[in-house]
Amino acid sequence: MVNDETRRVATARTYLMCPPAHFAVTYAINPWMRPDEPADAGLALSQWERLRQVYLDLGHDVRVIEPVPGLPDMVFAANGATVVDGTVLGVRFRHPQRAAEAGAYLDWFLAGGWRVAGPPAHYNEGEGDILVAGRTLLAGHGFRSEEGAAAELAAVFGLPVVSLRLVDPRFYHLDTALCVLDASTAMYYPAAFDDAGRAMLGSVFAELIEAKDEDAEVLGLNAVSDGYHVVLAAQATGLARQLSARGFAPVPVDMSELRKAGGGAKCCTLELRGARG
Ligand code: ARG
Repeated sequence: MVNDETRRVATARTYLMCPPAHFAVTYAINPWMRPDEPADAGLALSQWERLRQVYLDLGHDVRVIEPVPGLPDMVFAANGATVVDGTVLGVRFRHPQRAAEAGAYLDWFLAGGWRVAGPPAHYNEGEGDILVAGRTLLAGHGFRSEEGAAAELAAVFGLPVVSLRLVDPRFYHLDTALCVLDASTAMYYPAAFDDAGRAMLGSVFAELIEAKDEDAEVLGLNAVSDGYHVVLAAQATGLARQLSARGFAPVPVDMSELRKAGGGAKCCTLELRGARG
């Protein structure tokens, strides 16, 4: 495949991450979580450290929030907020086990002097379910965030919102089934969406890469793109080949322990759009 006409361009990003110091699988709120099969906490921490180092090596700015004891899923920073143009919309978790994370993340933003909106009236699990493609927001619902969150997003950010229904419980957050690579390119798992959703994605993105079952099943779509580099699960080898063929540079990371809670690289990463230096 000739890529000469496909020039991918990386831009430096600012991310918020939370070290998995209190990470454990102690409850089950998605099909990946098995409290009887514990995760290796030490390995989770070193995989997370490696992810952070990968971002730094790629030239991104990484900020870190203090983990709170008793909140084992707080490592999944993507669920902490939605941040667009320097405005922060807080979150509202569906499950009581994660509810207290909302305040912990909100406090971090308030202490940093961010412009904060919310809390939301509807369940809204932040950038786990809300993705940004250029000047369009994509809002997933069906398992965690509510469909009604879309209108709140449109009001807070003043941007058009495309609602996407998720239909496969293994892909319970939008960022497990869809990854925005750049404003007009995405990769996704078609079976995680309904017909209307697939049609919507076809109209939002000029270029769509379809993930195979085996790559979606290792959370290969839970990936982070800077427009050129795509940080994704090392186990998603087919998807990495597809990305290379389209002119992207896959950067594999092993997130095996975090995956035992249903998360990958993207879940551990909240993009702070419009962050001040
Ligand atoms: N155990 C967490 C939950 O079920 C995983 C969250 C993954 N985060 C994400 N952005 N998909 O809520």
